[in-house]
Amino acid sequence: MCGIVGYVGQEQAAPILLDGLSKLEYRGYDSAGIAVSLQSRIEVVKTKGRLQVLDDMTDSGRAVPGTCGIGHTRWATHGEPSTVNAHPQYTKDKSIAVVHNGIIENYAEIKEFLGKKGYDFQSQTDTETVAVLLEYYYEENGRTNPLEAISKVMNRVRGAYALGILFADVPDTVYAVRKESPLIVGRSATGTLIASDVPAILKYTRDVYYIDNLEIARLTETDIAFFNMDLEEIHKESVHIDWDAEAAEKGGYEHFMVKEIHEEPRAVQDTLGTCVREAGGHYHLDMSAFGVPEETVREADRLCIVACGSAYHVGMVAKYVIEDLARIPVDVDLASEFRYRRPILSPKTLVIIISQSGETADSLAALREAHSHGNKVLGIVNVVGSSIAREADYVFYTMAGPEIAVATTKAFSTQLTASFLWAIHFGQVRGEIDDARADELLRALMALPDQISRLLEEKERIQWFASKYAAAQDTFFIGRGIDYAISMEGSLKLKEISYIHSEAYAAGELKHGTISLIEQGTLCVCILTQPQLYEKMVSNMVEVRSRGGYLMALTNVGNYNVENTADFTVYIPRTDPHFSPVLAIVPLQLFAYYVSCAKGLDVDKPRNLAKSVTVE
Ligand code: AGP
Repeated sequence: MCGIVGYVGQEQAAPILLDGLSKLEYRGYDSAGIAVSLQSRIEVVKTKGRLQVLDDMTDSGRAVPGTCGIGHTRWATHGEPSTVNAHPQYTKDKSIAVVHNGIIENYAEIKEFLGKKGYDFQSQTDTETVAVLLEYYYEENGRTNPLEAISKVMNRVRGAYALGILFADVPDTVYAVRKESPLIVGRSATGTLIASDVPAILKYTRDVYYIDNLEIARLTETDIAFFNMDLEEIHKESVHIDWDAEAAEKGGYEHFMVKEIHEEPRAVQDTLGTCVREAGGHYHLDMSAFGVPEETVREADRLCIVACGSAYHVGMVAKYVIEDLARIPVDVDLASEFRYRRPILSPKTLVIIISQSGETADSLAALREAHSHGNKVLGIVNVVGSSIAREADYVFYTMAGPEIAVATTKAFSTQLTASFLWAIHFGQVRGEIDDARADELLRALMALPDQISRLLEEKERIQWFASKYAAAQDTFFIGRGIDYAISMEGSLKLKEISYIHSEAYAAGELKHGTISLIEQGTLCVCILTQPQLYEKMVSNMVEVRSRGGYLMALTNVGNYNVENTADFTVYIPRTDPHFSPVLAIVPLQLFAYYVSCAKGLDVDKPRNLAKSVTVE
């Protein structure tokens, strides 16, 4: 996700901004920039690429004089990585400059409103809309009251934001605003600072103020003032940070993986926010931004989902959900197989490539194979501007933000969410789902972020159970239907970060051979979230138990009779059965994580693995 820094004080700002941004590089970014104000002018220097490029462009900040400025590292969400889309974004006359972390959900309608007022735009970003809207309200009050302009913007925009703002005609002052996206304020020996995260500020102070939602901070060299949206000044207590720099990068979590698991509620929420709209208490989908012609959907004779690893497991889940909701036949293929098996594709088959990195060699090759057959490709991708995103005919970006841990967690959850959204859209376009059913399904999706948060509160119990299995040699994950698909992901998570052999099996298949492997104490994780398959699953559990297996059950709240058979049970909140994988995967990710921790392994960087497999 993006990184924000700001400084105002006695020292030259640019070197401090560059240093602060370097402490936020771990967050992942594709462009960077700074804005410094001097004598009622704002100088902006920004570039695509690494921070070193910006450092070189500014002679390590020496070429941009001034003691008040803001800086940014951008993780692209709206508009591909480029210099023009990099932050700071600013008004045409550079009288206002803005850096932003978050997503403005209603930026398109605001941009249209401002366009009608005669404003034009240079970038594809939602952030530029904020800068121009600030200008609109600042002009409206005769450029006399920046705080009032800020408050009006806060009232108008929807979504998540942390903003750093400079007004050219308000020298030596940095404004900061927060809604959902974290932003902190601190004081150094020579001035005051803002930052997205603690690492950028630790060098100067361990006493910080956390800006709360819908609050504004105004910083000068010597003064820090906080206001609410009504511009009433508010008092805040500082918080002392005990973390060291490395722990700070992980937000106080021990590993990026567990931090990213805890980011799943926000990631799913942001992904839903790209296309779920609410009007009059009812939800509906707006997929028009992604450009997939309704005719293509209506006439599709088949969908072909192609991916690797965890993304392939998303495809397995998506097959069940799309076929059930949209009644389109769905094939799911491993990209490394698809690209070489001379696939038979009809012209009406829509190919869907799922990829977090957008750079996986096999998945990119599969995309090109589909194109060689003349088929259209929809990419479901997390990294904006990645190769798969650029070469696909249509792109749906998941909003997981940068995922640092090699084992995917939050990106996986957002890919599942994306596949559910498309299943509903396909169903509506093909007349299988009416507005009422769509509202019902979308309401269930919108409840998922809170339900994930509730599940995360169970983590200590899962940690206790996981610590018992650090010495396990062989484990099984079994399920039926959608639960079989998600058992694959649970098994992969355990394998890739704890190095314990594990197999995922369709529960109905066990008796056809594998059950011979079950011995006394063999752990079998049984997933039973699908009501219509619940009794069948319990029977399979009894089969395993009768051979000495040790059973962990993962099922819906209310299915308490499962404890007559299972040795350890984890319950997930009730949701529409199609969407239970987004919840079921949370305990499975935590289980794998805590087993790996119990074994003292490098959770974030498992042996032999890379975050993106860009070679065959
Ligand atoms: C999952 O934890 C692994 N990191 C791996 O299976 C990954 O999902 C696979 O390599 C696909 O990567 P992609 O989504 O970036 O294409």
